[in-house]
Amino acid sequence: MNQKRDLNIDFASNANNYRRLHGGGKGQPIARAIGLKTYGLPLSVLDCTAGLGQDAFVLACLGCEVTLLERVPLIAGELRDALQRAAIVTDLQDIIARMHFIETDAIQYLQRSLNNKAEINAPDVIYLDPMFPERAKSALVKKEMRLLKDIVGSDADAAELLQIGMRIAKRRIVVKRPKNAAYLGDIEPHASQIGKANRFDIYMPTIAETFLIKP
Ligand SMILES: C[S@@+](CC[C@H](N)C(=O)[O-])C[C@H]1O[C@@H](n2cnc3c(N)ncnc32)[C@H](O)[C@@H]1O
Repeated sequence: MNQKRDLNIDFASNANNYRRLHGGGKGQPIARAIGLKTYGLPLSVLDCTAGLGQDAFVLACLGCEVTLLERVPLIAGELRDALQRAAIVTDLQDIIARMHFIETDAIQYLQRSLNNKAEINAPDVIYLDPMFPERAKSALVKKEMRLLKDIVGSDADAAELLQIGMRIAKRRIVVKRPKNAAYLGDIEPHASQIGKANRFDIYMPTIAETFLIKP
């Protein structure tokens, strides 16, 4: 099986065009979860689990400035290529210009920013969508996501991302989970937004540390 080809990231696909034009705007659960209505634009999002970049694309379509982190080289390569291809599609240029990709492990990236406060600007929102073990069994899961799971396995260290993220995000941390899944790391969120197949758990940052980071 050619895993690279089968990942098939295409921000100009019909499905993505439809989502971009008719996806529900600020009222859709992911937009509510990141607080778009509450905070308005500009809003910066650090997507620590970029994967196929689909959620990041939705957030960029909504006007957010999104930094995408991905640590698996094969996926990172595909995502980088897909962003380069999309950057020259006229209708997508402005959106792709809001998507900034970095191939790195997000835990190390966040840890570095805690150690060296000046290294990154603290994002308004940290967004997490780690692999979930039961996801592959769902009929709702698309072929690309199943393949992603074959490549990545399960992100066993994801709770660590949440814990560090709560010390860095300025406004909130959002964790995407399957609708009936347990909370990440058994950490109870402040609130949840329920979507069709997913739940977005919302965590508030630890205020004391937030002030240590440059805005
Ligand atoms: C379920 S997928 C994310 C799907 C993505 N939200 C989308 O819409 O396409 C999880 C991805 O996060 C990546 N990931 C998990 N933990 C990470 C970390 N600490 N640093 C960077 N990438 C990570 C995995 O390699 C995988 O590609």
